[in-house]
Amino acid sequence: MHLPDFKEARTRDIRPYKRVEFKEDDAVKNKYQGKTFYLKTYGCQMNEHDSENIEALLTFLGFSKVNSYMDADLVLLNTCSIRENAHNKAFGMLGRLKHLKQEKKDLIVGMCGCMAQESSVVDSILKDYKWVNFVFGTHNMYQLPTIIDKAIEENKQQIEVFSREGDLIEGLPVLRVNDYKAYVNIIYGCNKFCTYCIVPYTRGRERSRLKEDVLEEVQKLVNDGYKEVTLLGQNVNAYGKDLYDDYTMANLLEDVAKMGIPRIRFTTSHPWDFTDEMIDVIAQYPNIMPSVHLPVQSGSSRILKLMGRRYTKESYLELFHKIKDKIPGVAISTDIIVGFPGETEEDFLETLDLVRECQYDNAFTFIFSKREGTPACRLADPVPLKEKEERLQRLNEVVNHYFLENNKKLVGKQLEVLVEGISDKKNMYYGYSATNKLINFSSQRDLTPGDLVVVTIEDAKTWSLDGAAVE
Ligand code: 5AD
Ligand code: SF4
Repeated sequence: MHLPDFKEARTRDIRPYKRVEFKEDDAVKNKYQGKTFYLKTYGCQMNEHDSENIEALLTFLGFSKVNSYMDADLVLLNTCSIRENAHNKAFGMLGRLKHLKQEKKDLIVGMCGCMAQESSVVDSILKDYKWVNFVFGTHNMYQLPTIIDKAIEENKQQIEVFSREGDLIEGLPVLRVNDYKAYVNIIYGCNKFCTYCIVPYTRGRERSRLKEDVLEEVQKLVNDGYKEVTLLGQNVNAYGKDLYDDYTMANLLEDVAKMGIPRIRFTTSHPWDFTDEMIDVIAQYPNIMPSVHLPVQSGSSRILKLMGRRYTKESYLELFHKIKDKIPGVAISTDIIVGFPGETEEDFLETLDLVRECQYDNAFTFIFSKREGTPACRLADPVPLKEKEERLQRLNEVVNHYFLENNKKLVGKQLEVLVEGISDKKNMYYGYSATNKLINFSSQRDLTPGDLVVVTIEDAKTWSLDGAAVE
């Protein structure tokens, strides 16, 4: 048994780690043929991509996928810790699984992902969820086959969570959700320690993958006809800092762009590491999508300082406008937290001002959520929840106004769309533009997911656009 510990997790000393090639354990290959699994994924794209590896590992064991947990022999929750709400959802699901397990004694239940890295969660699994068969963390996903096999063979709860990162595993099998767009990890972990955020504890310190490994993965995707690749990391802009003296995110973006895949995206960018070189490369290569996610979190420099964000309102705005000026047609999206401990009405009004200035194309807005073990959790927080909810509502009204205004400007324009499928609306396809706008459109021709088509925009909504494919 290995248990997580945040004190260990927060240390950033550089421990030597190896790049280790994943090896399949042939002894368990197809051992569970005929059994089924249901995998539930919470949280960010990083988790979604981890789930693509997890599915491949479960398939290697012989399990096949089902779409309802009621039909599964094994249920695995790939969890998220970012806010209390994600945490509660996972525990709610465990509650339902407890009932199911009373009827179906052989059901195997496991937990992995970010919540598995939290000692309070694991303590509660040990104490109150003794029927959960196994838990593993974000740093040892590659051990899934062994851990599950042991949990079943020994019929004993397995808790295997490492507080520290360990080796960097390459070559994990992957079963991608799509055959036209793909996620590629470029950097794991985060060193920023924003005071509200649990990620540096659950995902460890920043570790870049070797550029050769990233480029080889992208090359395979190009060869397989993929149309879009999203380079992933908690802070992609820090790519290379831990590995190279003279190879940065800007270099990686350029090398990926030269491989000729039609669409390149990257997420998430911390404003602190967004260099001029990166902006130039994005502006220079038409296949790097003019779409930048640039979380601001707050428009008050006082709150930004308490958040440990390392920039002020002014320096953020400077970067924002530089990106807007240098990258033609760029769409910028953001994340905003309201109700950070001590946020006053004046602080909040500064956030509204900043939103009015930036007129974001998209924004994810949240109420501050206390995460145990983070510094902000200990700050005095006198603002009542009701007031925070009102702030969120007011903020959403302003951000939504600009989504619609920005969308209206696109009516009459022709945009290239990567087709995703058929939308609920009859006869309407849907897909995303270069700037990541959701577009519902009609087409005389039959289209398949992965096609790139040009669409004339006819109508603007707050969260989507309607149009017709140019025949
Ligand atoms: N409470 C609310 N929102 C949070 N985020 C991260 N931590 C918290 C928290 N404790 C938000 C930030 C981040 C996004 C992924 O989630 O806005 O950018
Ligand atoms: Fe959630 Fe963060 Fe973990 Fe992603 S990295 S799953 S957002 S806690």
